[in-house]
Amino acid sequence: MNNALRLGINIDHVATIRNARGGDTPDPVRAAKIAADAGADGITAHLREDRRHITDTDILRLCDEIDLPLNLEMAATDEMLAIALRHKPHAACIVPEKREERTTEGGLDVIGQLETLKPFVGQLGDAGVRVSLFIEPEPIVLDAAMSIGAPVVELHTGAYCDAKAGAERDREFARIERAAAHAADIGLECHAGHGLTFDTVQPVASISSIVELNIGHFLVGEAIFVGFSASIAEMRRLMVEART
Ligand code: PXP
Repeated sequence: MNNALRLGINIDHVATIRNARGGDTPDPVRAAKIAADAGADGITAHLREDRRHITDTDILRLCDEIDLPLNLEMAATDEMLAIALRHKPHAACIVPEKREERTTEGGLDVIGQLETLKPFVGQLGDAGVRVSLFIEPEPIVLDAAMSIGAPVVELHTGAYCDAKAGAERDREFARIERAAAHAADIGLECHAGHGLTFDTVQPVASISSIVELNIGHFLVGEAIFVGFSASIAEMRRLMVEART
């Protein structure tokens, strides 16, 4: 298996379904175990301020029960910083968060928040947590991420995935390509994610400077029809095919 391009599985929406009924099932930690068995390279979970899907207990259990690296998605708040410093996940991806949004709608405003983000990135880095900033695919934002010491950026692929196939999507893809090339030029590790599906993953996976994709919602939805292992295996197959 070609793991030069890592696949991080986001299990948030297993928790969304669980929380719709307020009980214990489906269990996102069980989903993480299945993802591990299906060859995932990491597990991603977003602990939101309003705990609408992943809960504090889920994070605790993921740390205790799952051997794969955990990528904790979190807003740049004091509460989340304290939680991350307590659990010390392998990685933390800093995302913008608005209470009323349905999902993460855009990249982090790194340029506008340099002063607040810099110590945040520093404290997590000092604790041994690999910090990534979820950003729009624009070179100027990558430069800002670099300037505050973030070792990793995750390029927001949402606009590319939402764009109409054809010229509009090609334009969005060109932005991702340019940003990924710029990451390689300035020495930032480059990840990508948001909204990726079987139809949209391959062009992104073919960009050699991108080393990790984080994918969730589509795979959880596909699991309803084919099972979680099979949906992850097919995503991996497409990624490997695009890379080779
Ligand atoms: N990366 C980041 C930073 C995200 O916020 C999300 C959504 O939680 C994803 C990747 C995965 O997006 P999706 O669930 O649409 O695959």
